[in-house]
Amino acid sequence: MAYILSIESSCDDTSAAVLNDDRLLSNVIASQKVHEQYGGVVPELASRAHQHNIVPVVDKALKDAGIDKRQLDAIAFTRGPGLLGSLLVGVSFAKSFAQALDIPLIEINHLQAHVLSHFIRTNDDYVPPQFPFMCLLVSGGHTQIILLHSHFDIEIIGQTIDDAAGEAIDKAAKIMDLGYPGGPIIDRLARDGNPNAFQFATPNIAGFDYSFSGIKTSFLYFLRDKLVVDPDFIEKNKADLCASIQECIVSFLLKKFEKAALKYRVRQVAIAGGVSANSRLRSGIAALGEKHHWRVFTPTLQFCTDNAAMVGIAGYFKYLKGEFADISLPPYTR
Ligand code: KG4
Ligand code: ZN
Repeated sequence: MAYILSIESSCDDTSAAVLNDDRLLSNVIASQKVHEQYGGVVPELASRAHQHNIVPVVDKALKDAGIDKRQLDAIAFTRGPGLLGSLLVGVSFAKSFAQALDIPLIEINHLQAHVLSHFIRTNDDYVPPQFPFMCLLVSGGHTQIILLHSHFDIEIIGQTIDDAAGEAIDKAAKIMDLGYPGGPIIDRLARDGNPNAFQFATPNIAGFDYSFSGIKTSFLYFLRDKLVVDPDFIEKNKADLCASIQECIVSFLLKKFEKAALKYRVRQVAIAGGVSANSRLRSGIAALGEKHHWRVFTPTLQFCTDNAAMVGIAGYFKYLKGEFADISLPPYTR
């Protein structure tokens, strides 16, 4: 039985979690409000906020878990990809803490952590995915269709050739001046809108790859034309615009994912990453599961956006294999 402390600091959330094997004991997330006024993450401010948050967040994670730091068996940390100044805070903290406690370090890839979030055990009856399964990873920085043969044996079946899905949603929100991050705001406003009110073109990309920059541009030009005629167009059609752009992006995501899952004949599918919090995507993947008799895994909301619990579960599987990291490892940004 192992106690693992995990640290996530790749972007703008400072998070620490404690797991007992695959069981989650605590998961503390400090989100940084400082970026809202800038409409996006300011790297310099993010690393400062991490510096401010990291000790109290780890402290709270240990307290919530009800264990003492001397009981820890290993420390897992996000090594990358992410913002360098942000990663450095978590990486340096993890290294010094592990050294002080004389326990091993485990380095984790952030994307791998998102995908493995489905193995976190929050109750005794939970049955995690069985291999092979296919995961649609959709976040602010990544859009990938991933086939998992085992925890760490993964195959990327398709991915975006330009913007990530979350990035496209955030940009659409920015164009409408809705605030940051745009994903949750568009999701909320879309509930009162008609998803078929407006149509935006989706690109024809071969195979299982995605592209989102064209959708964003088509949305921008569409609004530009409308605003010339009616300056209040966005205000009057906010809900319909949100519902339509969300529908466009989600149905594009799911159409390719469905094709990929059928081609590779998987019976279990999952979504992961920040955009997997989206209600339309969640209902869409559930509907596909019913249609094809797939078992569908949608993460609980606390495991969709960045969190240390997912780093901890990935860390646990590496701990079992005895895969430990050298103290000199630097973070990587991509
Ligand atoms: O995984 P994440 O927290 O950070 C990255 O690793 O990128 O993902 C953040 C992304 C942002 O683009 C945010 O707008 C999006 O996830 N997001 C959502 C929702 N909640 C977060 N997008 C659509 N609907 C949501 N409910
Ligand atoms: Zn993430």
